[in-house]
Formats: sequence, C-alpha cells, structure tokens
Amino acid sequence: MVLQHVPGQLSGAARVLERCDLLGRISEEPGRLVRRYATPAMREANDLVGKWMREAGLAVREDAAGNLIGRRGGDGEKTLVLGSHLDTVLDAGRYDGPLGVIGAIALAERLRDRELPFALEVVGFADEEGLRYGTTFLGSGAMAGRFPPAWLKIPDAHGVTMRDAVAAFGGDPAGIAAAARRSGELAAYCELHIEQGPVLERRGAPVGIVTAICGQTHAEVAFIGEAGHAGTVPMNARRDALAAAAEWIVAGEALARRRSGLVATIGRIDAQPGARNVIPGVVGMTLDVRHGSDAVRRQAVGELRAEAERIAAQREVELDWDARGDTAAVPTSRGLQERLAAAVSATGQRVEHLPSGAGHDGVAMSAIAPVAMLFVRCERGISHNPAEAVSEADVAVALDVLERFVSDLA
Ligand code: GLV
Ligand code: MN
Ligand code: MN
Repeated sequence: MVLQHVPGQLSGAARVLERCDLLGRISEEPGRLVRRYATPAMREANDLVGKWMREAGLAVREDAAGNLIGRRGGDGEKTLVLGSHLDTVLDAGRYDGPLGVIGAIALAERLRDRELPFALEVVGFADEEGLRYGTTFLGSGAMAGRFPPAWLKIPDAHGVTMRDAVAAFGGDPAGIAAAARRSGELAAYCELHIEQGPVLERRGAPVGIVTAICGQTHAEVAFIGEAGHAGTVPMNARRDALAAAAEWIVAGEALARRRSGLVATIGRIDAQPGARNVIPGVVGMTLDVRHGSDAVRRQAVGELRAEAERIAAQREVELDWDARGDTAAVPTSRGLQERLAAAVSATGQRVEHLPSGAGHDGVAMSAIAPVAMLFVRCERGISHNPAEAVSEADVAVALDVLERFVSDLA
C-alpha cells in the first residue's frame, strides 16, 4: 500500500480512530454495541460528539428530531453539509456512521483558520438504521422534509411511541416537520463512510467514489399455519409455518443468485409458539431486497411474493405480506463525483468508482441537495458486525481527499 500523507495528517486520522473507539463504548447494553434512536445511549453519544464539535470551533445545536448539528458561518449563507449517522445496528461495529461524523469534525478542525465562501455544517443524524421504529432514514428524512407525521404514533418493542421518545430525548415531536431545511439552502451534502463491502480491498484502493446508492424494498412476511403436537400429527397432515418459511427462504436465495447484483436477505425470523414439541403455527420474517436498478428490484420482489404465494397454497398455510418501504436508487451528483476524482488524483491515489449496496443518509438528503459520497476501504468488507475495521492510513487518505474537495469547492 503506497501512502502519500505527511505525519501531521496521519495523527489526525489516529485521533479519528481513537474517537470512534470512545464512541463505540457508548451502548444501550454491556458487552455489545447498540445505540437506537432517542435512547439514553444516543443522548450520551450526542453530548460527547457535541463536545468534540465545539472543540473544533463549531456552534452546536440539535434539531427537533434530535439530529446533532455543528455549524460555522453566517445565517443566510449557502451551506456545505458533511455528516453521517450516530445510531447503530445490533452488535454493531464502531465505524458505520460515526466515521463520517468524526471524520467531518477532523476536517472542520483542519479548515478552522481557513476562510470559506460558504457555511460548513457537520451533522450527526439521529437515526439511519431504523432499528427502534422500523423506519428508513428518520434523521436525514426529517432534515430533508420527508418525515411522515404518522410515524410519531409508532410504538417501539416496549410500547413507547416515537412521540414520547422524541420528547424524552429533548426533541420536539410537533416541530419536526417545521425543522426541515429548504431546498436551495444547502450547497451540497457529502458523506464519508466505510465501504461495508470487499470491492476496494480487492482493487487495492484506500478510497472510492460512490456513483449511486441502491434502492431497497422492505417487508414483514408471515406464514400462518396451525400449531400442533410434534409427536402425534403425521408429516403429511401438518400445516407447518416454519417448513413453509424454510422452503421460501431457500427458493428466494436461488432466485436472487440467478440475477447479477441482486441481494435478498431474511434478517430476522420468529417462530411461534416456539417450543421443541410444538409444530410452529406462525412464522414472521423481515425481507430486505436491493439492486442498483429499481426495475430489476421490483420485478424480483414480485417474483419472491409469487413464490411465497405458491408455497403457501401448496402447503395450505396463509401468507401475510406487509410492505414496509420502497426507496428508489439515488445517483450521486456527477459534478461532485468529478471534484472528488480530482481530489483523489491530487493525493496520488488511483480513482475508483463503485455503487453502494448499503443505504445512506444521502438518499434522503438528495431531495434537498446534490450528494457526494466517499468510501473508505474496510477490512475483508465486514460491516454490521463488531469486527468492522479500517486502517489509520486509509482514513488519512480520506481526510486528505476531503480537505482538497472542500478547498476546491471553495
Ligand atoms: C443501512 O446500513 C442499510 O443499508 O440498511
Ligand atoms: Mn448500517
Ligand atoms: Mn451507515
């Protein structure tokens, strides 16, 4: 690996990683990292990151949804937003989200004494992963004016509504819609993120420029059969919901493998009543389907559903299909891609482009600003896993690239 940075810049990257470690200790649970929307762990995270923002010379506030915002620049000025999310998945790694926020703070520190012809904001979005309420892009959606007020009534697993959680967090549930930023107010949104896949590692590149963010379909799918005695009901007389689900999962995997670039995942499965000696009567699952082409994704979802209906009919079980989300693929700005490419070249690195299979806050932000994304290579492409890892050298390259990118915009 060829490194082009100077020692002073490397120490900036080291500090970013050290802060990711510190933030990674703030969790709802001992022993694993989980930070869901508007929890006490998120409060602690916002407080710590807010302190780092202030130390970087930024004026800090939270919007009505709990997004953490550090700003330099005058009120009416066009604003360049750099950011990512501060919430996590279950048993998360330390970098998915936080790297983009903490990296942006490092950048604000580097640019502290430089005059810029625009305002600069670092944003830590309050909820991207959607774990607590099953939502998509809650924090950035609120900033982009895409927050459906009906979401406030959604309860979490303990029956706490989003409205109550936002209020307890110190936000303003009634003010979320009004807190949206206007289209035209922002010059651009730029997000630094770990790649979360193996492409850059395979290409031997520390950073890559994102061309587009894949669309996603989410659904809750259930097979409803009949519970019964595991010892007495003959195999040919059963309506086993888990066997139906298993057949569908394997058929769905085969279907996804036949199409290049298509990914389909059952991430959670729950069999009821859930005992050794009871035939499962009801099985609920989450479905997540993604592809760079919305047409290919939607066709695949139609085929997955038809296959579930066929299996349900054949096994005499019922199918319940609850569509939970459909976000279209979002291309990043061509002009910003070119500026990022120039910045990558200027650091002596090869310019690599790649699409993102993961969802990002840029999807929501694209409604109000041109979007750019820079990926950092991550070890073995592992993410949504505590083994997530990035190297200090790669983060140093990313910070150099972003510094040049912002200077070029200026
Ligand atoms: C977010 O990490 C997603 O892509 O689901
Ligand atoms: Mn994630
Ligand atoms: Mn992320």
